[in-house]
Amino acid sequence: MFVAANWKMNLDKNSIFEFSKHLNNFKFSSKVEACIFPPMTYIDYLNSLISKLPISVGGQNCHYKKSGAYTGEVSPLFLKDTGCKYVIIGHSERRILNNEINDEIKLRAQSAINSNLKVILCVGENLIDHQKGSAFKFVEKQLLESLPDNFENLLIAYEPIWSIGTGKIPSVNVIEEMHQHIKKFISKKTNKKVKVLYGGSVNPENINNILNIVNVDGVLVGGSSLNVKDFLAIYSAAVKHLDKF
Ligand code: PGA
Repeated sequence: MFVAANWKMNLDKNSIFEFSKHLNNFKFSSKVEACIFPPMTYIDYLNSLISKLPISVGGQNCHYKKSGAYTGEVSPLFLKDTGCKYVIIGHSERRILNNEINDEIKLRAQSAINSNLKVILCVGENLIDHQKGSAFKFVEKQLLESLPDNFENLLIAYEPIWSIGTGKIPSVNVIEEMHQHIKKFISKKTNKKVKVLYGGSVNPENINNILNIVNVDGVLVGGSSLNVKDFLAIYSAAVKHLDKF
């Protein structure tokens, strides 16, 4: 079970210091893995504040080149060097706002894996495809074109674009079917099993329903991960969920 906190472009140094105080007073479980993705400039700072905890830090993106004349980009090697375990690749905000296309996302994912990072590859349909009933097709195309060649350190996050930051989440059936579809698609293509996280408006109120869905292996949380109480409530729900088995 995995809980990922994508802070996006939020929380400054003071807020991170306050956040970490609560984390350091909390009893984490070895059953649930957690990773926080802070703004790039604070990865090292956060890592130093939580170094004794069983929580990792990650990058919100990385370039496909290891070094060179790429102003404003970050190398996967530098993320690794600064203590990152994971990197998010292909988040819909990068796809939409930074015009990242599947081909490039594949290169970024591949390069991150080659740099010994674990990749959370994001896929998910927009509202039009959701309403047209073509979400499966949309996500299949994303997978077909952006899956790296090496699957060892890969997780998928299913994040319907229309659900991100909106408070709307797909029905239990839709999430269950999509996760199953993604798993089947990947195992057919590669013979490998992959974990699939759900992302999009996850909060302390809906977390139990989401975790009860078959084939959900964890969550990628945006807005609710900015508040430490909400983040820890989501994490605790994941621990309790596993305790049931
Ligand atoms: P949200 O964001 O939880 O605020 O909807 C999720 C994400 O973008 O990863």
